[in-house]
Amino acid sequence: MAEEILQASKPQGGVAGLSGHKVGSSPILMREVQGVETIRYTTGIGELDLALGGGLVKGSVILIGGEPGIGKSTIMLQLASVISHQYKRKLLYVSGEESAEQIKMRAVRLDADTENLHLLTTSSFEDVLAALEASYFEFVVIDSIQTVVSSELSSSGGTVGQVRHITYKLVELAKSRGITVFIVGQVTKDGNIAGPKVLEHLVDTVLYFEGDYTRGIRLLRTVKNRFGSTNEVGLFEMTEKGLVEVGGDLFLQQDTSSASGQAICAVMEGTRSFLVEIQALIAPTFLQFPRRNTNGFDHNRLQMLAAVLEKRGGFNLSSADIYLNIAGGLRITEPAADIAVCAALISSFKDKVIDRRKIFIGEVGLSGEVRPVSNMVARVNEAARLGMNTFYSPTDAADKRIKTFRIKNVRDLILFLDK
Ligand code: TYD
Ligand code: MG
Repeated sequence: MAEEILQASKPQGGVAGLSGHKVGSSPILMREVQGVETIRYTTGIGELDLALGGGLVKGSVILIGGEPGIGKSTIMLQLASVISHQYKRKLLYVSGEESAEQIKMRAVRLDADTENLHLLTTSSFEDVLAALEASYFEFVVIDSIQTVVSSELSSSGGTVGQVRHITYKLVELAKSRGITVFIVGQVTKDGNIAGPKVLEHLVDTVLYFEGDYTRGIRLLRTVKNRFGSTNEVGLFEMTEKGLVEVGGDLFLQQDTSSASGQAICAVMEGTRSFLVEIQALIAPTFLQFPRRNTNGFDHNRLQMLAAVLEKRGGFNLSSADIYLNIAGGLRITEPAADIAVCAALISSFKDKVIDRRKIFIGEVGLSGEVRPVSNMVARVNEAARLGMNTFYSPTDAADKRIKTFRIKNVRDLILFLDK
């Protein structure tokens, strides 16, 4: 719950002010409405274009949310560089949290083109409006919305009232003048109250940055998009020269030394498929309640799969600790990884290495039956592309490059892995 102070004089904007509509509009015939062509800029950063649904739409408002340190300012500066270099458009970068020197240092580090980049370090929204009034900027970046304050409201910066008011104004500007606006929103780990959530309905596109800090992997997720499909993900890696695009084999361990307890699965993120390595370790325990430890996988699901292996497969797991880890910091939420988890568990239990060109896809039910999952074609394509050659699944791979072993039950899996 956050307190919101009501203003005596209502700030302008509100619903009527959205997208530049005038108060006192009357109905019109839909068929007489002139369609306008949307102008798209490809950003040259493929993964970002993908997340944006095929490039940047002129006059749209895009919200980029994410935890501090995830790379929001970095990607904004990289994008600014493309706009400056490729399109030679004037861009205003408003920073309320960093000094001009800090931003300059980052730009140097990123080797960014800053020819047409104008910097405004302020926390006053009125300064931003004045700058936009004084000269035409086709692109504006607000980094971040929580650090810019409008004096029209008495509440302090970062409150629901402030961020909403400023976003209304920015949307208005974007629609009336064809300015493309990026709004950076901080999300704190405990779910900031005045965070980007309260802005999602106001803007055209919402992107969220998430990832694994230790390995530098970053996922840019499309949560909302009026100009393209949601459910897209852009994949990046944070390097010393900024964010670079990466492909789908990212989540596989790079060293190919094999150990028992490892199995590979193809999971879906939006419309894309990734190969992910599942690592299991089964160790004898002296605890009354053995450990079931998971990282990146649902704890209850692991318990269920362990119970299925115990009951249907005859494995004695009740006197063993189980550790399960999804390599690369990805979180798996779909049941398609079930038999890969089972395979990793069996492999660790028997201390038998699974060849790294084998791939496991299928959902496991309580009776030990293995069920097909969606998006088989995308998964198999990605697997074949990355050199996988054997497929364990209830359905056929239907791909010449891959040999299929039909798995109808976890018992089949146990038999196959014994061979
Ligand atoms: P930043 O974009 O400042 O994050 P945000 O704006 O989301 O808070 O970047 C955060 C981290 O990225 C910072 O800890 C340093 C690191 N980084 C790199 O590893 N390489 C780089 O080239 C840059 C610019 C930053
Ligand atoms: Mg930042």
